[in-house]
Amino acid sequence: MRECEVKVNGQTRRREVKDNELLLDLLRERLEVKSVKAACWRGECGLCTIILNGELVKSCLILAVEAAGGEVVTVEGMGEDDSGGELTAIQRAFMEHGASQCGFCTPAFVLTTHELLKRNSSPTESEVTEAVSGLICRCGTYNQIREAIAAVRSYDKRRVSKKLVENAR
Ligand code: FES
Ligand code: FES
Repeated sequence: MRECEVKVNGQTRRREVKDNELLLDLLRERLEVKSVKAACWRGECGLCTIILNGELVKSCLILAVEAAGGEVVTVEGMGEDDSGGELTAIQRAFMEHGASQCGFCTPAFVLTTHELLKRNSSPTESEVTEAVSGLICRCGTYNQIREAIAAVRSYDKRRVSKKLVENAR
């Protein structure tokens, strides 16, 4: 066992972890971050996606000890600082376009959309398709997800959260 300290959505969390403990299991089972989904445990579905030190990663492919000292962001950490609990532009778009059915895949798609728009505020259809190509939605809402991402783009000047606009600079 080793001491592992990681910042999760701005909060410092510490646990003793086993050398072979996955970051996915640390987050879900021991830190109760349940938006991070466990499905395949082998890097195929993308549903355990998180942001680690500013990069999208699959948390089932990373050991907890490898994340020690790092900073994790999950969908729970994405709200606007001054939103008073309101949905972000991406979350609103997913809701308005029916892009979330059972919702199991939604956190991974929302985080991936956030990272896509941060890098590229006006992605083409093929760039959107490529960005989400590593994620599996078992409800098959891919068309609605693409429509939702396009709608976030169209909100850019009017409705995208301050945080997203700032991060996209
Ligand atoms: S649980 Fe990590 S990619 Fe499927
Ligand atoms: S909405 Fe059900 S898995 Fe994607």
